[in-house]
Amino acid sequence: MKSSIDFRANSHLPAANAKTDSIDEPWTGSNEQWWNWYISLADNSQEPVNRERLIPRPEEVAQKVPSIEELQKELAEPYPISEHQIKKFQTESYLRIKNLLSPGSVYLLRQELKQVFDQHYKFDPNRQFSSREMMWLESDIAKEFVLSRRLGQLAAQLLQVSSVRIYHDDFLCKEPGGGRTPWHYDGHHYPIASNNVGTMWIPLQPTPKEMGPLELAKGMDTYKLVKEIPFDKFSQDHDRAIAEMLQARGIIIDREPFQLGEITFQHSLNVHGAGANCTTEQRIAFGISYFENGASVINSPTLISGDWQKFMPGVQPSEPISSPYNPIVYDT
Ligand SMILES: [Fe+2]
Repeated sequence: MKSSIDFRANSHLPAANAKTDSIDEPWTGSNEQWWNWYISLADNSQEPVNRERLIPRPEEVAQKVPSIEELQKELAEPYPISEHQIKKFQTESYLRIKNLLSPGSVYLLRQELKQVFDQHYKFDPNRQFSSREMMWLESDIAKEFVLSRRLGQLAAQLLQVSSVRIYHDDFLCKEPGGGRTPWHYDGHHYPIASNNVGTMWIPLQPTPKEMGPLELAKGMDTYKLVKEIPFDKFSQDHDRAIAEMLQARGIIIDREPFQLGEITFQHSLNVHGAGANCTTEQRIAFGISYFENGASVINSPTLISGDWQKFMPGVQPSEPISSPYNPIVYDT
């Protein structure tokens, strides 16, 4: 006879985390395992991906790659944000910006990150999604982006704080045929005791709808509706329930494609997911997460916080986050 625990099994959950329904205990697996588990919670039943019939993508168009001096110059230049854009971010919980980065710089970053990533991971046809954080510690080019004044100042201005630190960067690769990313808001994951937290999402290729761009729900309060829906670590019920709620409430979802050089900066309370990658090309994005200088770790990080100590070695719950991996990247 099957026990109720067998019935609730999720093969991606580490055994120690699969014993109960609780999400209050710390995550016991690696960060890679965390992503595999997390992606398994996405409901793909509405638009299943046909892996036999992926949409062919044209060959990557090579861009004129900047020299390191040209890249540094571009990334040192402040972006002239307007009051209207700040207000829009604070109302809608995210902001898209076209041409924040030059196509050549984004192309250079893509080539670099793919090369670094491929040094660590062998091709696996069963893999749907891969992620690798802290790329700035391995790559001088990634470091230019992560520590850049252009991006750090923009984060601080949108969050309306005087100084920001880095939580982590993130190479996010959805393989051809990879399914959806479940609905969530990052503040649910991040073990940071502050609402002044946000993530820049930089797609590293033009990202049309069929490649699975971010799906961004509008409204700074939308997360409150998500918060009411119980999280389920075993099944796709949570993702499905959020999708139904968003539709029932008439929440506007931004599913627009991204041009090369276009980014979005989303508040940690922004509710988002991402579509499936129905193309033959990897959908790669680089995320950089920022938080207000002075913020501390929450008192009790949970399973959903994942392998958070990797991003702030030596920092304990309740302590201010200021490890060498969390440098200040902008200060007025
Ligand atoms: Fe997210």
